[in-house]
Amino acid sequence: MPTLTELHPLTIHGRVRSLTFPDRLFLAPMEGITDAVFRDVVIPLGGIGGACTEFVRISANPVPEKVIRRYFGVARCDVPVGVQLMAADAQNLTVTIASAERCGAPWIDLNFGCPAPVVFNKCAGSAMLAKPDAMALIVRTAVAAATVPVSVKMRAGITDAGRLAEVLCAVAEAGAAMITLHARLRIHGYHQPAHWPWIAEAVAVLRRCGHHVPVIGNGAVDVASDVGRMFGETGCDGVMIGRAALADPWIFACARGAPAPTPAQAVGFVFAYAAAIRAVRSDSVCHNKLKQLTRWYRAGGLFVDREAERTALLRGDQLDDMLTWYQTAAGG
Ligand SMILES: Cc1cc2nc3c(=O)[nH]c(=O)nc-3n(C[C@H](O)[C@H](O)[C@H](O)COP(=O)(O)O)c2cc1C
Repeated sequence: MPTLTELHPLTIHGRVRSLTFPDRLFLAPMEGITDAVFRDVVIPLGGIGGACTEFVRISANPVPEKVIRRYFGVARCDVPVGVQLMAADAQNLTVTIASAERCGAPWIDLNFGCPAPVVFNKCAGSAMLAKPDAMALIVRTAVAAATVPVSVKMRAGITDAGRLAEVLCAVAEAGAAMITLHARLRIHGYHQPAHWPWIAEAVAVLRRCGHHVPVIGNGAVDVASDVGRMFGETGCDGVMIGRAALADPWIFACARGAPAPTPAQAVGFVFAYAAAIRAVRSDSVCHNKLKQLTRWYRAGGLFVDREAERTALLRGDQLDDMLTWYQTAAGG
């Protein structure tokens, strides 16, 4: 059962404004997956206390407000959705943050975890973990520019976690209001098992250096029962879930004691997601997004003993065939 601390709302503080997350479970940002449409169908299923946009990359120029608005969607007041920014330096950060706040961002998250070569080779994302001073400058600039809280999402290191404590203290000192630690190294990509003791280390290090910055643990929370285990084993203040939210969007609610979804509910989600995508995008985008979901989906046990059917759906070229399959899977 969740402990009392786990069930308390979590408040973080910015230079001017504070923000309270109603729950301590977070939907991880995932580029190409957790866009505004996905967030808007998953968040109402319950249990999610906060989410943020996929990363918005700042490069030669500030990011225009209309681009941020596209990532952000419509501001929600029940569950705060922040804007995640990724930058290799502090240039253009101040103007971009002003635009994000005009869009209604209740907090800004800074990405120091992306392992993709296209990002890493431009010295952004996880490449910054080799440069704690430069990271701290980005955080300090963001904190000075933002009225809302500024958080950091980072990995434990590039090839090893030898500088984890140094990096954590640098970003905490620079004013980070919350730190999400993805307990993998850059070289692990997304494939290795996560190393949760790094999350426990982050909690201990931040306490030792006198910064009471909430730590959100992330990595390899695969089923609802992993949530309580991560809280218990690491002492973290919150838990962020990525791919398992695609496999079972009810994982957050189930971690809070809700029953697992029935097959009919699982199929209902697919149709709700399809309708939401089709309202704003083409059928071909919808089909690709449903394939992405189908690759991971395990809600309602729809694919138990039906892996061959999953493979056939992934190979299919007709959206209607896929929707018909789901309709039948629910027995309708
Ligand atoms: C396809 C994909 C896209 C991702 N995009 C982002 C992103 O835009 N920003 C970010 O901070 N992390 C991103 N991540 C990392 C996730 O937020 C999360 O840290 C990672 O998946 C580990 O959590 P998990 O083991 O629960 O999936 C992405 C991960 C995946 C698989």
